[in-house]
Amino acid sequence: MKKIMFLLLLIVLGCKLNEKIIQPTGLVTSKAMVVSAREEASQIGVEIMKKGGNAFDAMVAMELALAVSHPQAGNIGGGGFMVFRKANGETGAIDYREKAPLAASKNMFLDEKGNVIEGKSTATALASGIPGTIAGIFEVHKKYGSLPISEILKPVIALAERGVVVTKFQAESLAYHRANFIKSNGKNSLFSKTYKENDTIKYIALAATLKRIAKNGRDEFYQGETAQKLVAFLAKKGGNTTLEDLKSYNAKWRTPITFQYKNLKITSMSPPSSGGICLNQIMKMIEPFNLSQMGHNSVKTIQVITEAERRAFADRNYFLGDPDFIKLPLKELVSPSYLEKRMADFSFDKASKSSDIAHGTIKGYESNQTTHYSIVDSKGNAVSSTTTLNDNYGSKIYCDELGFFLNNQMDDFSAKAGVPNLYGLTGSEANSIAPGKRMLSSMTPTIVEKDGKLFMVVGTPGGSTIITSVLQTILNVYEFDMSMQEAVNAPRFHHQWLPDEITFEPNSFAKDVVNQLKEKGYFINEKNKEIIGEVDAVLVLPNGKLEGGADKRGDNKAVGF
Ligand code: GLY
Repeated sequence: MKKIMFLLLLIVLGCKLNEKIIQPTGLVTSKAMVVSAREEASQIGVEIMKKGGNAFDAMVAMELALAVSHPQAGNIGGGGFMVFRKANGETGAIDYREKAPLAASKNMFLDEKGNVIEGKSTATALASGIPGTIAGIFEVHKKYGSLPISEILKPVIALAERGVVVTKFQAESLAYHRANFIKSNGKNSLFSKTYKENDTIKYIALAATLKRIAKNGRDEFYQGETAQKLVAFLAKKGGNTTLEDLKSYNAKWRTPITFQYKNLKITSMSPPSSGGICLNQIMKMIEPFNLSQMGHNSVKTIQVITEAERRAFADRNYFLGDPDFIKLPLKELVSPSYLEKRMADFSFDKASKSSDIAHGTIKGYESNQTTHYSIVDSKGNAVSSTTTLNDNYGSKIYCDELGFFLNNQMDDFSAKAGVPNLYGLTGSEANSIAPGKRMLSSMTPTIVEKDGKLFMVVGTPGGSTIITSVLQTILNVYEFDMSMQEAVNAPRFHHQWLPDEITFEPNSFAKDVVNQLKEKGYFINEKNKEIIGEVDAVLVLPNGKLEGGADKRGDNKAVGF
């Protein structure tokens, strides 16, 4: 009788009874693992853990090592979010997202007729929010670090001085953006030069900044020589950042979003990132459907996921913003009855239209380029961190004296309600600009537990596609029996309500699948996006070993021991 009850319980929970043993195809190690956008950063993370550091020490090191080795997104001139799960099961999150300067104002990117001035929120000194990265890593270190900061920064400074070899991907990226670097910084700036594959770039100015930070701590960046130089540099470029802005910046511990999907417990980033709440809405909307039976990237699976994404993004764009400034209806947005109603008009027969799917109705509620790294240490502590300058190389404005790019995160605010930003995302009053406010993000650093144990650490860059790439990676492993590496490599698609189209990675989806979707009224975009996301993830295998998933779409690398 007990056995029957147990089997029934499993069916109710939607667990798969005949779970297959999946052979790993990525790097497998037995103790610890990191995966990031560059091998140099992954090596440094592992070096720190081999020295006895924990996952939080490795986070501090990797965040800065990415600022050196992956300047298109790694940063000290930007910000990010980190979600953690300690070996004892305790979870938490930190928000080191940029803030609008105190001189920022709601209409600062509009002309006198009220129209958005092209490029002002993306390619000027006014595009930069107050950077949060240094505050974030020092806050993490203060609470959970175990090695001295000077010890953690040593290999990073050495890397900056030794220089980093330009990869093929990087050479292409630098060539693509070079004209903009020259436009923003003149011909003699570090990145205005021409680099080819296998050249080495030394980051001497950044090494000097990091040395001062190692010596003087967090306040070097927010009140010291670095702060003064940064404010003077931005003023010269027409920016509005003051010493007061830097001095008053704070990183904030946040309660992460947690929810259950079948027998998985998902922990992800809370507002001011929309990542966790959107992931929660989408996963709960798709939970009643038997995706594993429908098949990976089948017409039906794509329909279910697309329609859930359409509805979640409509809500995101209307309701979400900085929780320190506006009241967000988080409970209501994920309530089962609300989500059931949201999907009530979905039919497999034909596509919904985004024009018919406004945000949901809530009764009186009490809100491309980025990089991600995942860490599991030998004790079982897990860190999932996503950090960004917003666009590739942020505003492209590079401070040669200090050695870093400035973010253009102000573009993540809604400059004007209904006008799309860099990622085609529209926003509302909830995400309007205000002094000291944080702009809404899509970053989704996520940790997944299965049956109460650490299962997966996952995240990705990709603006609005971050949420849907994290979603598909989790589903690929859990519903479609892929190894971690296969799950990361599998072709991805994306829908974000507006524009009303499914974006597919080109030439990776079966023609008849795409044709059937077209027949059902879906608009298809296979042209405008070469790749969707660059997922870096770690999976805990049934035998306790770790499998890394390092996305083939870039220079991503898993390293462990
Ligand atoms: N800047 C991209 C994001 O935060 O979503």
